[in-house]
Amino acid sequence: MTTTDRTPRKLHVVTHGCQMNVYDSARMTDLLRPLGYETVEAPEGADMVILNTCHIRERAEEKVFSQLGRLRVMKEAQGGNMMIAVTGCVAQAEGEVLAKRAPYVDLVVGPQAYHRLPELIAQAHRKTGAVIDTDFPAEQKFDHLPDDAAPQGVVSYLTIQEGCDKFCSFCVVPYTRGAEASRPVASVLAETRRMVALGAREIALLGQNVNAYHGEGPDGSTWSLARLMDKMAGIEGLERIRYTTSHPNDMSDELIAAHRDNAKLTPFLHLPVQSGSDKILRAMNRKHKADDFRRIVERLRDVRPDIAFSSDFIVGHPGETDADFEATMALIRETNFALAYSFTYSPRPGTPAASLPQVEQAAKDARLQELQALLRTQQDAFNISTVGLETPVLFTGSGRYPGQIAGRSLWLQPVVVQHDSDLTGQIRMVKINHANPNSLLGTLLDKELIAA
Ligand code: SAH
Ligand code: SF4
Ligand code: F3S
Repeated sequence: MTTTDRTPRKLHVVTHGCQMNVYDSARMTDLLRPLGYETVEAPEGADMVILNTCHIRERAEEKVFSQLGRLRVMKEAQGGNMMIAVTGCVAQAEGEVLAKRAPYVDLVVGPQAYHRLPELIAQAHRKTGAVIDTDFPAEQKFDHLPDDAAPQGVVSYLTIQEGCDKFCSFCVVPYTRGAEASRPVASVLAETRRMVALGAREIALLGQNVNAYHGEGPDGSTWSLARLMDKMAGIEGLERIRYTTSHPNDMSDELIAAHRDNAKLTPFLHLPVQSGSDKILRAMNRKHKADDFRRIVERLRDVRPDIAFSSDFIVGHPGETDADFEATMALIRETNFALAYSFTYSPRPGTPAASLPQVEQAAKDARLQELQALLRTQQDAFNISTVGLETPVLFTGSGRYPGQIAGRSLWLQPVVVQHDSDLTGQIRMVKINHANPNSLLGTLLDKELIAA
């Protein structure tokens, strides 16, 4: 079999981890489509399975190995006719070890090398044993990805920055994704226009430190994220822009001002703080204090009073005492988050914090429970505070039950409306009537079509 014959082949892609992996999975699918690969919903009977993996916490990694075990059985049942590729951050971190531990894996490809997939697949067909490519190649993978992408939908994700130079004590990302690099402005704008032409109305700009974006502009100068988003705001048909994930130290004055000046920027910001204790922030190598975070939140609320915040928290980082944890709880109480993600610290091989004395698991678990209970209360309070509002909703598709359509508020809340025609891609005014724990119910205020 060669990679140029055109018999349709079945491709199944499993995605773990962050939105950047979601974007990468979509691009890998785009890359393989011209080779005759069509995506299928289940791995059974697939010619190729891509497991796009995450290495951020131990549990994420364990999931990969248990899934690989199941794929092995399927592959055997198919007489070996299933190519298994492991991509993403576990592939990058484990490379050779993974190929040894799971010898039935045919390809191990890192997040910076997947543009070479077609050639790697051809190699894998010729060779026994795994083909491994975990290079950080000098060429930008974005220059080697195809222009014709499948539509992602009304809300589309666009990676504009990759890698991280910050080396937080707990985190594997600088090792799995490499050094910080920004895509050139022209390439981002071209992809934005393509996405809009395919139906995107909201674009989420992605990067591990997306607010550190510094891409080469068409004039040769370096563009900031604020400048890039200002240019994007001029693209007709694009209605909403947001960006994730950001580091507090890269919230520049210009970016804060963009939340006032850029009408398409949604009033919602994911800004991970991790801890409210200065001692722990120092141990984490975050290079800012809890008060710096408070000041950023305050300044953003000044320029954009309806802005809502989400964040990430780690409890039980080495050295965290009850008092440090209390400082985190105090920061949460003062800030009021609309949404949050929280985790117990998971020691990751090769990261500085992993070799320090660890906080007892029971203490970590208890702290996480307490913290999540508080965050849950804040999320509920935020959702309830939107009841009664007349607010624009971007419709993304049908709801779970017949006669329902679903969309998103400006603050990323799922909104469900009873309506019998398809409004996908339209922004309509909705009156919010009720808040469920994870969604809002509303009625359409028929008159206004804000954008289609
Ligand atoms: N670039 C982002 C984070 C990416 S990782 C930032 O700077 O904030 C997503 C989240 O996973 C982190 O914000 C952190 O809360 C969590 N995380 C990362 N490493 C972790 C670890 N070793 N244990 C537990 N949680 C971790
Ligand atoms: Fe990880 Fe820190 Fe970089 Fe975020 S800023 S990706 S937490 S090292
Ligand atoms: Fe996971 Fe890699 Fe994203 S470790 S969170 S998939 S950058």
